[in-house]
Amino acid sequence: MDGRTVFTSRQEIELAISAARLQGKSIGFVPTMGALHEGHIALVKRAVLECEYVVISIFVNPTQFNNPKDLELYPRMLEKDVDMLKDFNNVVVFAPTVDQVYPSNDSFPGVDLEGLDAVLEGEFRPGHFQGVVHVVYNFFQIVQPDFAYFGLKDFQQVAVIEHMVRQLELKVKIIPCPTLREKSGLAMSSRNLRLTEQQKSDALIIHATLNAMVQKAIELTPNEVAEFARDLFNSGQLKLEYLEIVDPHSLQKLSNQWVKGAVCCIAAFCGDVRLIDNMLIKP
Ligand code: PAF
Repeated sequence: MDGRTVFTSRQEIELAISAARLQGKSIGFVPTMGALHEGHIALVKRAVLECEYVVISIFVNPTQFNNPKDLELYPRMLEKDVDMLKDFNNVVVFAPTVDQVYPSNDSFPGVDLEGLDAVLEGEFRPGHFQGVVHVVYNFFQIVQPDFAYFGLKDFQQVAVIEHMVRQLELKVKIIPCPTLREKSGLAMSSRNLRLTEQQKSDALIIHATLNAMVQKAIELTPNEVAEFARDLFNSGQLKLEYLEIVDPHSLQKLSNQWVKGAVCCIAAFCGDVRLIDNMLIKP
C-alpha cells in the first residue's frame, strides 16, 4: 500500500485496518483537512517512522467552522494531496464524505472541555473545539490508532484533544509535533495559500513579535511582555484578534508570575485570512 491508496467509505477503511491489525501492525493516524504542505508531510514522515501502517484522513470538517465563508473558502485539492503522499509506503488515505464521518448512529458521547474551549480560539470561534473533538473522536473510532500525530501550531487543539483522551480514557497516544516554518519564519498553514506575496511579508510580524517576547520574558512579567508585544504587533499591518501568554495546561492567562512552559498564542487577520501561531516563551 502506498499513499495513492484512497478509501472513501468507512467499511473499506475498517476492513483494511483490520487486515493490518491481524498482521500485528501498529496503526498511526494523521488527521488533516487536506491542502497538504510540508508541515503535514513532517507529521506523516514521523508516523511512518514510528508505526507500521499509517492512515491519513483528508476531510474538511464542517462542524468546526463557525464562519460559513471560511468553510466555503477552505482549499480543497484531493488529487494534489494524494500526489504528495505517493512515495510513502504503508500509508493509506481516508477521504470520506460527511455522512461517513457523522453516521445517523453517531456514538460520540460528548466531552466536557472544562473551560479549555472558552479561551483563546474558543472565545472567537464558539463551538469550534466541540466540532474538533467530535470529528477526532469519530475518526479514532474508525481508525482505532495506537498513535495520533498533531501539529503544535494548533497548540490549543492539542491541549483539547489530550484532555478528551484522558477524560474518555481512549487508548490512543497523542504525539504533538513541532510547528514547521517557512525560511521566513511564517508558520506553515493551508491558509497561507490564500495570502498574496505582500501579505506573506506582512504576516512576518507574527514570528518577529513571538521571537522578541522570548527575550523580553527574561526581565519582565507576563503582563508586561504581553503589553510590549501587542504594541509591537500593532505597528504592523495585521489586525490582532488576541495575543495572550498562557499556562500550557490550563490555558489560563498569566499575569504576574511565569510558569515553566508558558506559551504565547496569537490570532490575527491578514486581509481576510485568519492566521494563528504560538511560541514557547518560558522553556
Ligand atoms: O488540525 C486540523 O487540520 C483539524 O482541526 C483536524 C484535527 C484534522 C480535525 O478536523
